[in-house]
Parts: sequence; C-alpha cells; structure tokens
Amino acid sequence: MRLAGARVLITGASSGIGAATARVMAAAGARLVLAGRDRERLDAVAAETGGLAVAGDLTAGVADLAGRAGPVDVMVGNAGRGWAGPLVTMPDGVAEELVATNLTAQIALTRSLLPGMVERGRGHLVFVSSIAGAVGVRDEAVYAATKAALIAFAESLRYEVPGIGVSVVLPGVVDTPFFARRGAAYARRRPAPIPPERVARAIVAAVERGRPESYAPGWLRLPVRLRGAAPGPFRALAGAFGRPVSRRVRRGATP
Ligand SMILES: NC(=O)c1ccc[n+]([C@@H]2O[C@H](COP(=O)([O-])OP(=O)(O)OC[C@H]3O[C@@H](n4cnc5c(N)ncnc54)[C@H](OP(=O)(O)O)[C@@H]3O)[C@@H](O)[C@H]2O)c1
Repeated sequence: MRLAGARVLITGASSGIGAATARVMAAAGARLVLAGRDRERLDAVAAETGGLAVAGDLTAGVADLAGRAGPVDVMVGNAGRGWAGPLVTMPDGVAEELVATNLTAQIALTRSLLPGMVERGRGHLVFVSSIAGAVGVRDEAVYAATKAALIAFAESLRYEVPGIGVSVVLPGVVDTPFFARRGAAYARRRPAPIPPERVARAIVAAVERGRPESYAPGWLRLPVRLRGAAPGPFRALAGAFGRPVSRRVRRGATP
C-alpha cells in the first residue's frame, strides 16, 4: 500500500506513538483522520499534519468516528492505556476499562471499516500491540492479556481477508506519556525507552511493505523466539531480569 494519497485513520493520535505516526504519515503524503479524546491536543496534531480531527471516547462507541472518517484505506488501531501493579491490588473496574479500550474498541472499529475495504478490494489494518502481549510482563497481567488478544485477533483475521493487509506492531518501551498516565513510572533500567518516532516508522514500513509483524526495536523479536524455542530458560531469565530495579537491589541481586 502506497501512503501517498491514501486515507489513513489513526486512533490515539493526540499523543505519543499516534501523534508521531500522524507526522510521519503526513510527510509521506497520507490524508489523515485523527482520533483521540483530548480535543486541544488532537487539534494541535491536526493543524500540524493537515488531518481531520474527530474527538471522542472509543469505549463509548465507534459509529460516529467511522461515519465521519468515510472510506478509509489504512486503519492504525493505536489508542490504548495501561495499568501496572500486582493483580490483587487492581481496583474494581480497571480490568474492564483496559479490555474496552485496548481490545473491544479495536474489534468494533475493525468491524465498521472492514466491509468497505473488502468491497473496494483495498485496505490495510495495523494493530498496535505490545511486547507484553507476546511474552507476558510482571505486574501487567491484564494489560498484557489485552495485547495478546489483539495479536490473536489480527493473526486470525488475516486468513479471512486475503486481499487486505493486516499488521501487528509490537513496541517495547517507548518514551511517551503512557507510563505517567497509567500511574506507574517505567522502573527497569533496560531496555532503554525508544522515541515514538521509531515506532511510527515501523508502522509506516508495515503498511508500505505489507509486513504481518513488526517489532520496535527490531531486536525484541529475539526474546519472543527464545520463549518459543526454550520456554523454560526464557521464564527463568525473565523472572530474574523482569523485576524493577528497586526490588532487585533490595534482594541483593545485580540490577
Ligand atoms: N509507551 C509504551 O512504552 C508502549 C509500549 C508498547 C505498546 N504501547 C501501546 O502503544 C499505544 C499508544 O500508546 P502511547 O505510548 O502513545 O501512549 P499515550 O501517549 O498515553 O497515548 C495513548 C493514546 O490513546 C488514546 N486513548 C486512550 N484511551 C482512549 C479512549 N478510551 N478513547 C479514545 N482514545 C483513547 C489517548 O487519547 P487522549 O490522550 O486524547 O486521551 C492517546 O491519544 C497504546 O496502545 C499502548 O498500549 C505503548
């Protein structure tokens, strides 16, 4: 899919990875429809990229967004939120909000846009998942589960729509407001956060080259492969190195 002239709908375009993707795609000549909740930040990205801003909460429904977007060539399903901490301390309602935002809204928007893509014989769906969904991450069980479900959704859907591109992008740690918003800072020393523009470039490459799966940074495919080939050693390593720095130091281990 060539991005020049393509109509691209990006959810979560008011911040972080979505805003960076809007800038990179605008530079490639895409015509953008930008979705987010924060009207002011969304308008700022729209002014910068020449996109159409459609503000709204995706968990309240996607019909308005899909209607105002019109015929979409590329959907970048990127809006999402996190929560970190032991599952037993998770407040009531948070799990449902994570599932509604990270999974149900993505499925609903796909169901709205896909029939038009199939009819026109042209389209590409990009789902922004997470490395957490591929390998599991301590203290992020529900978030990781929503992102794993998104991978399974995309992998399954791909068989149904041979003429339509389906890509999953799996970022690692990205320097965005994601961590402040979830109420828990990134507490590990490695891997170091990457800029959101790097994920944006992976999303663009996924569309232009029809990549089914992209990691950002690319080396993250290695732990996923290790987990597939040697799950026992992977779990031992992840258990030892997946702890936040402060907890490892308290236990006397090398951070
Ligand atoms: N940052 C990371 O380290 C990282 C790593 C792996 C995967 N990801 C994934 O990457 C995606 C983008 O995250 P980010 O890092 O760019 O975080 P971010 O800066 O917090 O951006 C999240 C975006 O999602 C939108 N959003 C959240 N809930 C929404 C809702 N109910 N309805 C409509 N829009 C909603 C936000 O809109 P408003 O700002 O307008 O409220 C915002 O535009 C997420 O799916 C996240 O899970 C992030």
